[in-house]
Amino acid sequence: MAVGIFDSGLGGLTVLDAVGQRLPDVPFVYFADSKHTPYGVRDADDIYALTTAAVERLWEAGCDLVILACNTASAAALRRMQESWVPRDKRVLGVFVPLIEALTERQWGDNSPPREVAVQHVALFATPATVRSRAFQRELAFRAIGVDVEAQACGGLVDAIEDGDMILAEALVRSHVDALKRKMPEPEAAILGCTHYPLMQEVFQDALGPSVSVYSQANLVAESLADYLARHPEMLGPGTESGFLTTGNPVKVSQNATQFLRRRISFTTA
Ligand code: DGL
Repeated sequence: MAVGIFDSGLGGLTVLDAVGQRLPDVPFVYFADSKHTPYGVRDADDIYALTTAAVERLWEAGCDLVILACNTASAAALRRMQESWVPRDKRVLGVFVPLIEALTERQWGDNSPPREVAVQHVALFATPATVRSRAFQRELAFRAIGVDVEAQACGGLVDAIEDGDMILAEALVRSHVDALKRKMPEPEAAILGCTHYPLMQEVFQDALGPSVSVYSQANLVAESLADYLARHPEMLGPGTESGFLTTGNPVKVSQNATQFLRRRISFTTA
């Protein structure tokens, strides 16, 4: 009854931690495409090819349901995968919708027409590929009207976090927040639209100031997954083992992952 969690690298571990706490009896298989990270600087065809290869590997590991715990893959590849690639007995879900439902205060599956919501000025911090896709604005427009979104592509930040260079990561966060504030001086809410960014959430909050509500995905995705599995228990695949797979060097990836989550994580070759 395993579920697959996919990310281009280690950022999705923030989601894995939250879903693991919410659903302690479910085995999760985590796949980090460390050899090809970052995805945020790749084009959509490249991201599609890499993401589908990783999802196939998770299906092989007995995970009929795979969560793309990667905004870049969710933004650039998920729609195409769902429309023409995912077989009937499998599911691939992204991480955008739970976040937008929280921002627009909607319940799961509320398909009523878009309406005005409490927040009007929203800052989106994401990778260049996610910003370019405009997937966040598209999904938001299905649910809310009158929301002004200013997106800031945070070049370099994923690399700094993957390398464990937190001094550089902090400097990059502060300079990207400054750049955003020049375009939108008073955002009411900020979306951390990349799974790596919750690791820098305190710095984002500090740079943005206390009046800005910072939304990050991990707990929102965990709630949505619990709700989905309660309604679709048949999507718990045949796998029984938890595990961590990587396309990179398992020793190095395990070291960085252990540093991230502050508990021992052991990756094997995918
Ligand atoms: N952590 C991923 C995301 O949520 C991708 C980062 C990257 O590979 O550029 O967007």
